[in-house]
Amino acid sequence: MLSLFLAVYSIQLSAGEAVNIYTYKVTYNETGSLDEGGSCVCSITLPNNVFPVERMEYLEIYSRELNFTFHQELLKVQKYERSITLYAQKLKNLTQTVDVIQYGRASISELDFEVLRVEIYEMESLVLQLRTSLGSSNTIVEKLYLEIKNISAIVTQLESYDQTNVLAVRREINTLRKRLQDCEVEANPTLRHPYGSCDHGGLLDVSKPLIVQTNWRGISYTYGTWGRDPYPAPNKKEVYWVAPLATDGRVLEYIGLFASYSDLLLYRSSSTIRLRYGDFGDGSGMTMYNNSLYYNCYNSKYICRVNVDTNKLERRALTAAGNNNRFSYAGVRYQDMDFEVDESGVWVIYATEESRGNMVISKINSTYFTVEKTWVTTQYKPGVTNAFVICGVLYATRALSTSREEIFYMFDTKTGKEGSISIMIDKKLETIQSLNYSPADHKLYMFNNGYEVTYNVIFKPQ
Ligand SMILES: *[C@@H]1O[C@H](CO)[C@@H](O)[C@H](O)[C@H]1NC(C)=O
Ligand SMILES: *[C@@H]1O[C@H](CO)[C@@H](O)[C@H](O)[C@H]1NC(C)=O
Ligand SMILES: *[C@@H]1O[C@H](CO)[C@@H](O)[C@H](O)[C@H]1NC(C)=O
Ligand SMILES: *[C@@H]1O[C@H](CO)[C@@H](O)[C@H](O)[C@H]1NC(C)=O
Ligand SMILES: *[C@@H]1O[C@H](CO)[C@@H](O)[C@H](O)[C@H]1NC(C)=O
Ligand SMILES: *[C@@H]1O[C@H](CO)[C@@H](O)[C@H](O)[C@H]1NC(C)=O
Repeated sequence: MLSLFLAVYSIQLSAGEAVNIYTYKVTYNETGSLDEGGSCVCSITLPNNVFPVERMEYLEIYSRELNFTFHQELLKVQKYERSITLYAQKLKNLTQTVDVIQYGRASISELDFEVLRVEIYEMESLVLQLRTSLGSSNTIVEKLYLEIKNISAIVTQLESYDQTNVLAVRREINTLRKRLQDCEVEANPTLRHPYGSCDHGGLLDVSKPLIVQTNWRGISYTYGTWGRDPYPAPNKKEVYWVAPLATDGRVLEYIGLFASYSDLLLYRSSSTIRLRYGDFGDGSGMTMYNNSLYYNCYNSKYICRVNVDTNKLERRALTAAGNNNRFSYAGVRYQDMDFEVDESGVWVIYATEESRGNMVISKINSTYFTVEKTWVTTQYKPGVTNAFVICGVLYATRALSTSREEIFYMFDTKTGKEGSISIMIDKKLETIQSLNYSPADHKLYMFNNGYEVTYNVIFKPQ
């Protein structure tokens, strides 16, 4: 007699697939008896003669193997699950790294090297100029000269093998360059004027550009604006703001704030403002003053103000102003309203149908967020590339070539008189997205095709 136990194990895997395992057990019922000859005869009764016992045994072994294999696989699945968790974590980390690169926090492009080389070359020539004009006895300049020589050598070395360190050196160079730019003015007492004061005879010149870096969202964000709040809240020492527009060149949604120049260089923002959907801005005319952002509310004739600490938003109608890309600047779209800050506070530059598209400038009362006074100029707004205000004087620029811009027009709100001037601005890339003046450091902040660039402004003696 053969009895057969068939057990079916159904094991449900987490993946939803069922695996059945068959186990067989074969027993023989033997009956022994003695025959006439005294021989022992064992008869095995098999209910089915053709039942393949060998195959059965084989199956038994096979099932054991199968069970073994299954458990091995199960173990593997558990191992994979652990691996998958690890890989997911790695992927997440990698995504973060890519984000960092994408948003320009660590972008290393060939251009960076190019810019680096140009910067070093420019610094060297600037220091050499300073050396000549001040004499080799000036220890600060001598020290800078040595430091630049050192850095130049380091960069050449780094370029060949270590790209990541180039960023660190770039930052060092920027800090040095800034000191150098400042030194240029400091070295010449007649050019030195206290920050925030208007005791000078107006704009004399603009220095060579200092390419600070690519904006924090990355070089693909070519549109935007940036600057420095010259009048930050009392608990804040410095505030730099960087507002790259969406890649459509229109929507203002994100503004990065930085608590110091070195934080700016390290892309270490103290906060990132994200405007709510209904509170978006239009174009790159934004500015920041007294802890508040001033901008053209999206697709409207309204001006918006947001306090960056309380998020309180205020709106005022500027009903006469052209909007929705009606009177933007040459080369940039949707900058119908351009907010500027000078020694006396906030201004807004725009154009109206009544002025036939000529520039109109209004003083904003920053206490009540109201329009205090308005002046109409005779300069067609779409004919200028950008504008800024220093000590109540509006200055406008136009492009002379892809690498040269000219400050060619001025309008003095104190006298209501306009005039022409000619001060050259070198630009690194073709399009000026925005120009903002900061009375806190006498610098122009230019957003140049995604790059943050500064210039020192130099004033005439009174
Ligand atoms: C063996 O077979 C006999 C007769 O068919 C039966 O009585 C007995 O219970 C069987 N023994 C076993 C262990 O199956
Ligand atoms: C299958 O294998 C596992 C581990 O190797 C063992 O614990 C289990 O008892 C086996 N199952 C059967 C039905 O043989
Ligand atoms: C992911 O990043 C975190 C924090 O930087 C780190 O602790 C962790 O080891 C990283 N994980 C992997 C898998 O690289
Ligand atoms: C230049 O580099 C040398 C050696 O690396 C160092 O000793 C020297 O102090 C550096 N000079 C300056 C001005 O940084
Ligand atoms: C705003 O207007 C009020 C009332 O005319 C005036 O007292 C105040 O000084 C003005 N604020 C600024 C910042 O000019
Ligand atoms: C600066 O902001 C504070 C707080 O919002 C306000 O009380 C003050 O009047 C503002 N000052 C100017 C000059 O706008």
